[in-house]
Amino acid sequence: MKTREQLEDLISQMTLQEKIDMVHGNELFATKAVERLGIPAFRSSDGPRGVRKEFEKDAWKDIGLTFDYTSYLPCNTALAATWNRELARSTGQILGKEARGRGKDMILAPGINIMRTPLCGRSFEYMGEDPYLAGELAVELVQGIEENDVSSCLKHFAVNNQETRRLDVDVEVSERALREIYFPAFEAAIKKGKAKGVMGAYNKLRGIHCCHNDYLLKQVLRDEWGFEGILVSDWGGVHSTKEAMENGLDMEMSVTSDFDEYYMAQPLKEAMEKGEYPMALLDEKIMHILTVMNQLHMLDGERKAGSYNDIEDKQALRRTAEESIVLLKNDDGILPLDAKKIKKLLVVGENANRRQAPGGGSAEIKALYEITPFLGLNMLLGGNTEITYLPGYYNMDVGNIWANTGVGDNGLADSIDAAATPNKKTTPEEKKALEEKMNAQYLVEVLEAAKTADAVIYIGGLTHDYDTEGQDRADMKLPYGQDKLISELLAVRPDTVVALLVGSPVDMTAWLDKASTICLHWYAGMEGGYALAEALFGKINPSGHLPETFPLHEEDCPAVVLGEYPGGDKVHYGEDIFVGYRYYDTYEVKTAFPFGYGLSYTDFVMSGLEAERTTSNGVKVIFHISNVGDRAGADVAQIYVSDKFPKVKKAIKELKAFEKVYLEVGETKEITVELDEKAFAYYDEEQKCFRVEPGTYSILLAKSAEEVVDVVDIEIM
Ligand code: BGC
Repeated sequence: MKTREQLEDLISQMTLQEKIDMVHGNELFATKAVERLGIPAFRSSDGPRGVRKEFEKDAWKDIGLTFDYTSYLPCNTALAATWNRELARSTGQILGKEARGRGKDMILAPGINIMRTPLCGRSFEYMGEDPYLAGELAVELVQGIEENDVSSCLKHFAVNNQETRRLDVDVEVSERALREIYFPAFEAAIKKGKAKGVMGAYNKLRGIHCCHNDYLLKQVLRDEWGFEGILVSDWGGVHSTKEAMENGLDMEMSVTSDFDEYYMAQPLKEAMEKGEYPMALLDEKIMHILTVMNQLHMLDGERKAGSYNDIEDKQALRRTAEESIVLLKNDDGILPLDAKKIKKLLVVGENANRRQAPGGGSAEIKALYEITPFLGLNMLLGGNTEITYLPGYYNMDVGNIWANTGVGDNGLADSIDAAATPNKKTTPEEKKALEEKMNAQYLVEVLEAAKTADAVIYIGGLTHDYDTEGQDRADMKLPYGQDKLISELLAVRPDTVVALLVGSPVDMTAWLDKASTICLHWYAGMEGGYALAEALFGKINPSGHLPETFPLHEEDCPAVVLGEYPGGDKVHYGEDIFVGYRYYDTYEVKTAFPFGYGLSYTDFVMSGLEAERTTSNGVKVIFHISNVGDRAGADVAQIYVSDKFPKVKKAIKELKAFEKVYLEVGETKEITVELDEKAFAYYDEEQKCFRVEPGTYSILLAKSAEEVVDVVDIEIM
């Protein structure tokens, strides 16, 4: 490793052009090397659910070779649904190793924006609605990635909570909501995780684009949080040389190939030559980039090698997929299914047979393989069961809105306006008519086959035509006429197992009361379909819990009721701190399934909650958890804190600790978690700092935001 003095010496030897070359893209995913001084190009790739395929250097054109088939990792929402720090770390380790194996220096991951509205197209890339959960897992992910001499890149800083007008929507949000809801995951990943990279968001905050927002980048990120890594723009997120130069950005990346025209290319060089900015300002950016390169051993030949598609990593990816599955309903004990009793299995729903990896926008993956649910069921049942697959509904989408635009892989450049052009070839009316016609035919087949099957599994949900970059969903309904199909199927086969594959919440009210058995599954990576089959047939015991509330309807969502969504040029976050369960809980709004919720095939009892003060404002919380059912399994114990007599508005409770606990049949464990001062603090806008209000606080032991099992009160000074 070089010393700081050596890096300064290196900078002193650089010409202006060489410095300029380092602060902007000279390829779509790389800067230019300064070969003369042994400084390599800085190469990045998307992120977050694996390392993206290769493009031409200057065009969004698939290179089309075979060397970039890679692991497809569970999406971040799936990871968040595991509530498992260890799995976040192993996922990060695999991502980092593969990024390095593919010759990258920075993986553009993880995505850690908070889910403000269920309709946000990129929810699947993020970690749900709670800043504590997202922060805890992001720290592990980042550390896992960076163990491999590869930089992570937290994105998108900040308040990139919708895709509608994502490039310029101006977010108005209170300082308190920023500090309590939208910042903490970034802050944790930087301060505790030591993330080396951050990506600015496309949108504006308080009138200024986030990629050159003095408040966000200089005041908060650099000065308050002490971030010394690389601040990179989102691709095309820079709009001014002056603001980018003066407000903290280090590296401009974009979607076009006129690299010299980038704001931080020739225009910056000319401005420097005219003396518009001090050289020290440019040197500071170079120092950030060189510091990260140095930490990644890019300058000393000591760098770790990576690898990808390692056979042993498949097991870890499978485990994450398994633990992400959330059992929502099992009223009649239909699950797990008994393979021995099922000779004829009917699988209905196009998601059973669909590969999801190639869609979603920049999170697309050229997967080495992907086990679909249908494949997984066949693999698991192994020849003794006759499995019939029927699509059930007609889906003419190709799984990627960008591909539909007719511009092939030029998705990113096109993403600037892709949202407006979901499908140029077929009109929505034609599409609807075709869908209705095909669905009617499919329904007849399904109802007929359902009569004679020993069991029926429905596998539907969303696709990346809905969970996607560049576009929000129009509503929370299931697409392709699925509500009708599910209702009709349940009418003839009330024992149908409904499995939904989603990246964000859907409205199930059309059939929710009629379905006894519902299982949730995400874009869960290359092993995802096998994991689902294992859960349905009891080879594993589901242990996922929701990282986000599933509201009954989108109209119930706080962004709609109290705030604005999607807004116009501006969007006002009127719901303030009442995001997700903080709203549903405090305002007593009924939900379909609450934050933190998830069932198991066994039963757990949590009891014996005790809390004692350790230091003036630290608290040690102890409780017991027992497996009283007849299978081994895991539950997520959630600790919420509630201010009993708040003097300022507060959510009725907030998640402050959690522990995923594995228990054999009959086993009991004593669990201890520590809460520090932060667990009791709120952001005081007048004092401009976090403050603890002295008084009585309740510590709640819960199985979800709506199922509190024990409470103790404690005095905080
Ligand atoms: C996305 C980023 C992504 C970048 C590069 C942008 O459109 O918002 O998340 O990392 O493109 O592909």
